[in-house]
Amino acid sequence: VTTRTPLIAGNWKMNLDHFQAIAFVQKLAWALKDAKHDYSSVEAAVFPPFTDLRSVQTIVQADKYEIGYGAQDVSVHASGAYTGEVAASFLASLDCRYVLVGHSERRTLHGEDDAVVAAKVSAALGSSLVPVICVGETAEDLEKHGPSAVPVAQLTRALEGVDSAADIVVAYEPVWAIGSGQAATPKQAEQVAAELRSALRESLGDEAADRTRILYGGSVKANNIAGFMREPNVDGALVGGASLDLNEFASIIRYQS
Ligand code: G3P
Repeated sequence: VTTRTPLIAGNWKMNLDHFQAIAFVQKLAWALKDAKHDYSSVEAAVFPPFTDLRSVQTIVQADKYEIGYGAQDVSVHASGAYTGEVAASFLASLDCRYVLVGHSERRTLHGEDDAVVAAKVSAALGSSLVPVICVGETAEDLEKHGPSAVPVAQLTRALEGVDSAADIVVAYEPVWAIGSGQAATPKQAEQVAAELRSALRESLGDEAADRTRILYGGSVKANNIAGFMREPNVDGALVGGASLDLNEFASIIRYQS
């Protein structure tokens, strides 16, 4: 039996500067420590803005907190004349474990298509980062194609050329549920997560499909997390707004208690 350690991750988006990040991560670690949080049963991670990563690294390493962290985006390029871009190797040198790839805000606001997303996945893996591949359908897609066609197609394209031994995470974020307060139901999330797992099986084989974590994201809160986590194919959450509130985020991480 494959056991997938649940992952609860906070995507801060463009919030919290590096001073605020230091305070937040420290307080989060204390809150989890007070609650005697067992990191082997639930992994916690944060995705701060690029400018916070060095500070987060310092706090996490100095105090030996078992909080994972990563960037919200990565360049497809290794280095060179790409003003404003950040290379995967730079993130790796800050000991980032993860990087978000293909978040719907990157897809819609920055025109990232599936080819760009696939190139970012490969850049991340090339620097031993774990890409958190974000997929999800808009309300219009949902109406036209049903719930899973678009996310499955996005994932399949993102996995082109990926080795079956690669360490990746998938985040299913229905665009209509992001920041809307209107989360998917656990059943809806499970239905798509199951389809995404089949797509993983098809692209990468059984072992990878069984071990890869699939997160749900979109208006996850302390009061709805438990329902998602009861679903067999949902292995965690990617939390936006609620990850900026310390108590709320700590409660989401401690959904079992
Ligand atoms: O990446 C997480 C995000 O898109 C979900 O945002 O605010 O609906 O939890 P939110």
